Amino acid sequence: MTTLLEEVRPEVVLANWTNAIKRSALQEMLAAASRPGVISFALGLPAPELFPVNEFEQAVSSVLGSDPRALQYQPPFTPLKSQIVELMRRRGVYCREEQVFLTAGAQQGMNLLVRLLLEPGGQLLMEEMIYPGFQQLVEPFAPDLLLVSTDPETGMNVDEVEALLKSGRRPSFIYAITDGHNPLSVSLSRRKREKLVALASTYGVPIIEDDAYGFLSYDGPLDPPLRAMDEDWVFYVGSFSKILAPALRVGWIIVPEKLMRPLSVIKEASDIDTATFSQRTVSAYLAAGHLPNHLSRLHKEYRLRRETMHAALLEHFPAGSHWQKPKSGVFMWVELPGGLDAGELLQHAINKEQVAFVPGGAFRASTHWSQRQSLRLNFSHCAPPQIEEGVTRLARAIADVTDHAKCYDQMVPIN
Ligand SMILES: Cc1ncc(COP(=O)(O)O)c(C=O)c1O
Repeated sequence: MTTLLEEVRPEVVLANWTNAIKRSALQEMLAAASRPGVISFALGLPAPELFPVNEFEQAVSSVLGSDPRALQYQPPFTPLKSQIVELMRRRGVYCREEQVFLTAGAQQGMNLLVRLLLEPGGQLLMEEMIYPGFQQLVEPFAPDLLLVSTDPETGMNVDEVEALLKSGRRPSFIYAITDGHNPLSVSLSRRKREKLVALASTYGVPIIEDDAYGFLSYDGPLDPPLRAMDEDWVFYVGSFSKILAPALRVGWIIVPEKLMRPLSVIKEASDIDTATFSQRTVSAYLAAGHLPNHLSRLHKEYRLRRETMHAALLEHFPAGSHWQKPKSGVFMWVELPGGLDAGELLQHAINKEQVAFVPGGAFRASTHWSQRQSLRLNFSHCAPPQIEEGVTRLARAIADVTDHAKCYDQMVPIN
């Protein structure tokens, strides 16, 4: 497999860290997954038919009609900050406008925090199986990764975090996805939330809390995020991408006030300005009072999609497969029985059955952990009939690949 560096040499001289960027077979497969006719469970996309298009249309025209500065370079839009303060109360977080920093989505929020906290080659603590977007953003720092495992039912192994800190390790920060974990879909148990926050403040190690999915909940209210328990050591990252629309590129972070200034300098260097127009549109949408109904609608529809996928997996997947029903987020994490290789299954699933997913191995932060037999399936993007059809196709692909593997096992070598 060639690296990016090898592909563009000698014309352009790239920074050394780009050596870590590989053109992966997975990316090529996923590009194939966007072909027409393919049912894709691969990406964490929201349901497009649930975007509140009409309400956005009203919000856009009210913003454009009322103030041409909406299209100008502008400071962050303060009314949106106070609306976010109100929104955070729904998650049990009490913060002030002065602690809210507006970003272009959760990804930028994490990017700014990482640039603020991490030295090149510095240490950070995170789970072995984790959101690749986060792995990508820390790659340029060539960090020393302190990895801990994740329990599929209760989340990050906080005892391992404690052991690392007790042994004298002092990472620049801990990265945690509290609810709707990507890719494992687990929500951190309350006991673990409390312990993790206590560890952060005892050892003086901040937590970057990625709550991109925290406003999606399918079985009643979720436990409060880590930020509800500590305002000094938890740097909270939120986003409108999963609850309104990712194309808006509006998110926020909640940090101690003293970090606002350095963060605004880093943000200015990265994209000069906040997304003025989007921020004002989101603010107008929130001011019109649409969000609570929209959230109820999303919860109801995504719960239905989760149930549909669960029922289809029960009906069609081989005995011995395991998965949890997530309380939040947009993925099911499925472990298959036997010696099936999810990478091989993906090729067969796309080429023969026109259905796509992401093999579990794609989320590994270390080469030690295999996860060959696990799949991440998204349930938010496809409508229920497509989910049933997609799972049926996938089960057929599993049966084919299993038969194929059995044939090989039974072949007798000719002497
Ligand atoms: C765990 C997690 N964090 C952050 C993001 C990025 O969100 P945003 O679109 O707000 O940048 C995603 C996107 O899928 C995600 O899964």
